[in-house]
Amino acid sequence: MSSRTVIRGGLVVTASDETHADVLIEDGRVAALAASGTPAAAAWTGDRVIDATGKYVIPGGVDVHTHMELPFGGTFASDTFETGTRAAAWGGTTTIVDFAVQGVGRSLREGLDAWHAKAEGNCAIDYGFHMIVSDVNQETLKEMDLLVEEGVTSFKQFMAYPGVFYSDDGQILRAMQRSAENGGLIMMHAENGIAIDVLVEQALARGETDPRYHGEVRKALLEAEATHRAIRLAQVAGAPLYVVHVSAMEAVAELARARDEGLNVFGETCPQYLFLSTDNLAEPDFEGAKYVCSTPLRPREHQARLWRGLRTNDLQVVSTDHCPFCFVGQKELGRGDFSKIPNGLPGVENRMDLLHQAVVDGHISRRRWIEIACATPARMFGLYPKKGTLAPGADADVVIYDPHAEQVLSAETHHMNVDYSAYEGRRVTGRVETVLSRGEPVIDQREYTGRAGHGAYLPRSTCQYLT
Ligand code: URP
Ligand code: ZN
Ligand code: ZN
Ligand code: ZN
Repeated sequence: MSSRTVIRGGLVVTASDETHADVLIEDGRVAALAASGTPAAAAWTGDRVIDATGKYVIPGGVDVHTHMELPFGGTFASDTFETGTRAAAWGGTTTIVDFAVQGVGRSLREGLDAWHAKAEGNCAIDYGFHMIVSDVNQETLKEMDLLVEEGVTSFKQFMAYPGVFYSDDGQILRAMQRSAENGGLIMMHAENGIAIDVLVEQALARGETDPRYHGEVRKALLEAEATHRAIRLAQVAGAPLYVVHVSAMEAVAELARARDEGLNVFGETCPQYLFLSTDNLAEPDFEGAKYVCSTPLRPREHQARLWRGLRTNDLQVVSTDHCPFCFVGQKELGRGDFSKIPNGLPGVENRMDLLHQAVVDGHISRRRWIEIACATPARMFGLYPKKGTLAPGADADVVIYDPHAEQVLSAETHHMNVDYSAYEGRRVTGRVETVLSRGEPVIDQREYTGRAGHGAYLPRSTCQYLT
């Protein structure tokens, strides 16, 4: 059955253009764009016509870093694929790429199957997977080739969390060498976890148990050192590198230097590092636990370097690292010992709005907003131009965005399954009005009309962002 939707009169914003255009959608895909008011556009009819006058018409957000139901520190991230993807849609995100986890001593296949089982039939929006590699051995390396072929084309490794996800330099080098051959992209959690664990032990021995010490022991220099080491290991392997959740200005400097040398190294940051700081970690009465994530929030002065990196393309992507744990019963596991606070912040619903606020505040342009939140993540992880843009043939993942609406972010009104907001009380200008996923309304004028199971699994091609 064929269906047609016409979106009229909005300002279509992509990474490359801003035009007053109507959008014709046929059978879940963008069929055509034409300047509003022209005879070509006026001739279009649809089963459904959306008036977007005064609004932006943008590609759905692509969030390439989420952790629905992640097991961590003896508990699980509190959003399921059902609740997390619904919240994502509310925030204008129509694609997530989540991290399947290889258990130590288990195969990649087992881990991937388990994540498929969690997601299948439950997602409101489309989803793909990266693979967390926590056990590099000969079998794992062979499996990486197979995964790349079937559409899991990126692999996260950890220089942090010894005894859990940690890989040593030799394991990292081997995985990088493999990805240099099979086209996979290594995503690195760059923090020197061995050194950090020594500082954790020493801090706790001094009685420094509050959440703010999480930020003090996970030093910016140890993020920069690991970033540098990851870059040089990738250079030796001849592989591209994507560094996740960059928070320290010294780490941005390492990326910028390597890029100036012409290396294929990329960096992602997250809204929490752009909008929050160690001031939040120091909030009294254990409230700081709400802001415990790794890499940690940094002192405010780091933010300007991150914004600059986003403008100069030394950082290319903003994703959320959405990994929610409730304050009550989950974050509280670390009362009296900050190292037992489950790491991670909620945010999948807030990213598009916070980055629009950055447009309002003058940090980035409108097109750069779409580039870092939609187009580049799609290209970096092999989803472009199906996702990340509005062009004939692209999936009709479309957000009608009201750039003038005012809202206050709050746990009272958000849709993430978590009992606090990291941005509680923050005023932002701009709000999602309507969201289409492959042409179907998921949010219809601020009403949820989606359903679990609409979201489809996305096999991905290899990185489309290499020089
Ligand atoms: O604190 C964080 N970021 N939790 C999620 C796991 C990770 O390292 O990305
Ligand atoms: Zn990480
Ligand atoms: Zn993460
Ligand atoms: Zn559907």
